[in-house]
This record gives sequence, structure tokens and C-alpha cells, in this order.
Amino acid sequence: MKFLRLFGVMLLLVLSVTSVTAQDAEPSGDLELFSWWTGGGEAAGLEALIERFTELYPDVNVVNSAVAGGSGVNARAVLASRLDAGEPPDSFQAHAGSAMINIYGAARMEPLNFLYEENGWMEQFPEGLLDLITDDGNIYSVPANIHRSNVMWYVPGNLEEWGVTVPETWEEFISETCPALQEAGIVPLSVGQSWTQVHLWESVALGVLGVEGYNGLWDGSTAWDSPEVVEVFDTYGQILDCTNDDRDAIDWQPASQMVAEGTAAFNIMGDWAAGYFLTDLELEPGTDFAWTTPPGTEGVFIMLSDTFGLPIGAPHRENAIAWLTFLGSAEAQDIFNPIKGSLPANTTADIENTELYNAYFQDAYEDWTTNEIVGSLAHETVGAGEFLNGFSELIAQFAADHDSETATLFAAELYEDTLGAED
Ligand code: GAL
Repeated sequence: MKFLRLFGVMLLLVLSVTSVTAQDAEPSGDLELFSWWTGGGEAAGLEALIERFTELYPDVNVVNSAVAGGSGVNARAVLASRLDAGEPPDSFQAHAGSAMINIYGAARMEPLNFLYEENGWMEQFPEGLLDLITDDGNIYSVPANIHRSNVMWYVPGNLEEWGVTVPETWEEFISETCPALQEAGIVPLSVGQSWTQVHLWESVALGVLGVEGYNGLWDGSTAWDSPEVVEVFDTYGQILDCTNDDRDAIDWQPASQMVAEGTAAFNIMGDWAAGYFLTDLELEPGTDFAWTTPPGTEGVFIMLSDTFGLPIGAPHRENAIAWLTFLGSAEAQDIFNPIKGSLPANTTADIENTELYNAYFQDAYEDWTTNEIVGSLAHETVGAGEFLNGFSELIAQFAADHDSETATLFAAELYEDTLGAED
């Protein structure tokens, strides 16, 4: 009996020594990262991050569980079923704003305020961005970047050859630029599958409605069935008639590539396209490709941000914390963003270094710090979840029937049932 008790005490001692050692030890074991960055400009930035992280934590085995499909169209569904099944990855990509707060938030995520305090991040990340990942005082993720949605890409030499200029208004694009290009056998504006059409739509909506009208779509002050929104759809429908026929069959990279290879004149895509042009296609900014704001959106920056968080029940929590600490650092942000095509979210990163951040980034940074900022629908800064799902269906239907009145009536109903019901 005495022996047994002694054995028990010794076992306890051994166990507690082991757990102290385990806590103090360098992170080791797996770290499963979940995202939708799988290639064609998406993956290179993530791979560069993983490479540096693995140098810092050689005992951690990073499992990259990225699921293909631009804007996370497939990844988000896979993630949702894993979370429902209680099988979260250690850390996953999610958009700041509506997605992080309304879809994941307190129910799914651990608050990360402690990381912000330990690393001095409260002073290093922009307040407006922190607001997008904070609910009830709890901060739920770490931003990797700032992306811009309203960018229109083109190749200056091609426009010159085709005798067209960058249109200043949609009216000019629809009545002059588009027919001239179509006549020459060039696709005036390339676009891809459903989510890229929503992406195009949001730039058109901002251009037609202006900042106040666009913001009003999300707070109820712009009626979805108003004549102004009918005008958005009318304009959007005419623009859609200037796009490629195979749009539903392609993701964003082939659509952006059409501009680079000279089969299309313009493409409206977020600045991950810059990452694709620079990193994958090795094009020179300013000459091989150039950018402007889609008509009517100058002075406004439609923003979104990719963030990573710590899901409740992460199997390798300590490793996830090491990853998040790294991800938020200026070092990681300077590794990732020049490759990804985005701006660093951490303001102590080296954005002024023009060797690292070329002419595109300098221009985007100038706009980010001086423009009016609004949120992206296609990338879940606003309207994530049921609204965006329903709206994507509506956009597909609209592509088939071009019925603006019906589209706005459906949208109004959708708003009432989803976002409006939350007010
Ligand atoms: C966005 C995401 C970007 C980029 C893009 C295309 O939603 O924020 O980082 O990956 O999708 O897939």
C-alpha cells in the first residue's frame, strides 16, 4: 500500500515535470493551416511565409490544407463542415469584417487580445481594421494584409495599338470603348465565374451610387428596390454584354491573364491580380501591366483583409499561437505582401521600401491612406453569409435574364430576410 502511494506520488512528480518541460519547450508537432491559396499567384506568398516560419520553428511540421477556388468559394464550405464536426484546423483564413464577426466570432474563435498586448499590436494595426475583427472588446484574428477590390487592369501598349483609352465613365465604356474593341475582335472586359461577377458588380455599384449610396446598401439607408439600384443593374447588364462568353467556366486567373496576353482590354479584379502578374507571370508594373480605378470610383478604396485566427479546439494551439505571432509581425508582412499583391496591415512594416514594394504598392498605399474606405461584398467585409450566398445566385440569374427590376426586388427581399433582420 505504502509502495503504491509512493509510486503514485512519483508518477505525479514525473507528470508535472513533463508538463513543465512541454510548456517551456519550443513548439513542435503539426500545424495545420487552412486557406484558399493554392496556386496561380495565391500560393507563393503563403509558401514564403511557411518557409520562414519553418526556419524559426524547425520542429513544427506545417500541414498546408489549402482548398482551391478563388475567393474561398470551395474552401469556406469545407471549413464550415469541419467546424460543425468539431474538427477545426489549427488556424484558418477568414475575411475581416462581416465574415469574421458574423460567421465565426465568439462561437468559433478564441479572443486574441493577449497576443495584441504582448506584441504591442494595438498601436501597430490601423484602428479601423481592428474594428472589423473586434466584437464586444474581443479581437478574433490577425490580419495578414489589406487588399483592394476596385482596380481595373490593362496593358498600356495594347490600348495604344487598339486605339482606345481608359474610359472615364461607364457611359463612355458602354457606348464607345466596348463597341470599338468588339469590332476589333478584342474582349472589352474579361470576367470569370460567379464570385468574380459579384466582384465586378460591387465596383459598378460604387461607381453608380457613390460612397453614401453604396454604404447605404449595408445599413438599410439605400433601398435595394430604388431606381438608383435599378440603374446599377442596368449599367452592370450592359457591361456584362462586353465580357467574354466563357466567363462562367473560368476562375479569376485566366480572366486576368486575358489582359496580360492581349485577348482582353480590361479586367476588374482585386490586387491579388498584381501578385499574379508580378510573381507568376513576371510582368513589370507600369509597362507590362497598368492599373486605374473602375469608372466612378476614383478616391474610394473598396477594402478587404485576409486574416487568420485561432479556432476553439485547435488541436495544436501552441503552434497556432506561434504562427499568429509570426504572421502579425512586420517581418512576416514584408515577406508575404510583396508576393501576394497586398499592402501590409501592420503599420510598422517597411512599405516605404520601394525595392520591396514597387510602383503598384506605392500607388495603392497612397490611396489606402488618403481615400475614403468602403467594404467589399464579394470578399465579405460586408454582407457575408446568407446575404452573399443569395446575392451570388441572383447575379447568376441576372446574367441569364438581364432583368434589373426583378433583380432589385429579389435583392430587397433578400436584404430584409438577412442583413435587415439583424438590425
Ligand atoms: C479573396 C482573398 C484574396 C485572394 C482572392 C482570390 O477573397 O481575400 O486573398 O485570395 O480572394 O482568391
